[in-house]
Amino acid sequence: MKSKKTLVDLLLVGLTVLAFWGVATFIELSERVAKFSQTYEAFQVDELPLTLLVLCVGLLWFAWRRTLVVRSEVNERIRSENKVQELLKHNSDLLQRLFTAEEDERRALARELHDDMGQTSTAIRTEVAVLQRSGGLNEEAQASAKRIGESAQHLSNMTRQMLQRLRPAVLDSMGLRQALTSMCEQWQSSNLTLCTLSFAGEVDHLNDYASVTVYRIVQEALTNAARHAKAHQVKVQLALDAKGLHLKIEDDGQGMADAQAVPTGFGLLGMQERVASLAGQLDIISNLGQGVCLGVHIPMESLSDSSSFG
Ligand SMILES: Nc1ncnc2c1ncn2[C@@H]1O[C@H](COP(=O)(O)OP(=O)(O)O)[C@@H](O)[C@H]1O
Ligand SMILES: [Mg+2]
Repeated sequence: MKSKKTLVDLLLVGLTVLAFWGVATFIELSERVAKFSQTYEAFQVDELPLTLLVLCVGLLWFAWRRTLVVRSEVNERIRSENKVQELLKHNSDLLQRLFTAEEDERRALARELHDDMGQTSTAIRTEVAVLQRSGGLNEEAQASAKRIGESAQHLSNMTRQMLQRLRPAVLDSMGLRQALTSMCEQWQSSNLTLCTLSFAGEVDHLNDYASVTVYRIVQEALTNAARHAKAHQVKVQLALDAKGLHLKIEDDGQGMADAQAVPTGFGLLGMQERVASLAGQLDIISNLGQGVCLGVHIPMESLSDSSSFG
């Protein structure tokens, strides 16, 4: 394409020169110029053609020098852009490692919580039940045993909730679609606000890293909607197509004053970093009184990367 354009330009120059030569021959241009310059010889007009020729050569040299400078500037810019791309890739890799380490830590914590706290609270409830059944307790001891049982039950519920936040087992066992569905249902019943979910494409085929990224983003968005939005409804749409992954989370709440400002809270910042770790884009659209719409796009290349939690 580029060489075709150069050829056309050269052809144009050649044709112009030929046309000029034809016209000049036809009207005897040089003779006319010579005659004219002889008339004004006193003003040294006859020196003009050669001087103009030198000017032409000078301009050619100038253009050539400029071309060299521009070429080296373009090369320098290409090198800088490559460097920036490299640094961005490096940054994404570092963020992925960071989030992978964080998820590993959460998984380990969840395991310990499940094994220690979960089993201990179950053991306490079992002992309390044995005590209550033994019948040898006076009224005060019965009441105390009941309270211990209730506290153990509370501990057990808390542990289950913490486990859910730390590492939802359903994400590992049943996939992203089911994990998001049960998160939405739980959120809906504890916030008494409608949460609708829609899926398009094979979202369960995403690798671990991408699944956890989507899960955490939706989790934070729902937490924000419950905390800040005063919404009546939240819509979550997740689609996977040939271009990549598209996630949209909309609420009809009170909105944000300045959605374009650099996020100051850790929630939106964390979301941005998670999206950046997959070279994606996060758009926050909101006006006061008009709810918040979060749009996430992750390109297909980042999804087909082999990066995933071990
Ligand atoms: N869905 C929402 N509706 C209204 N305001 C929101 C919403 N999500 C976030 N915000 C605003 O953006 C701020 C930053 O959110 P975030 O980074 O998650 O931090 P945090 O939730 O800890 O305050 C919130 O304090 C809130 O003012
Ligand atoms: Mg938040």
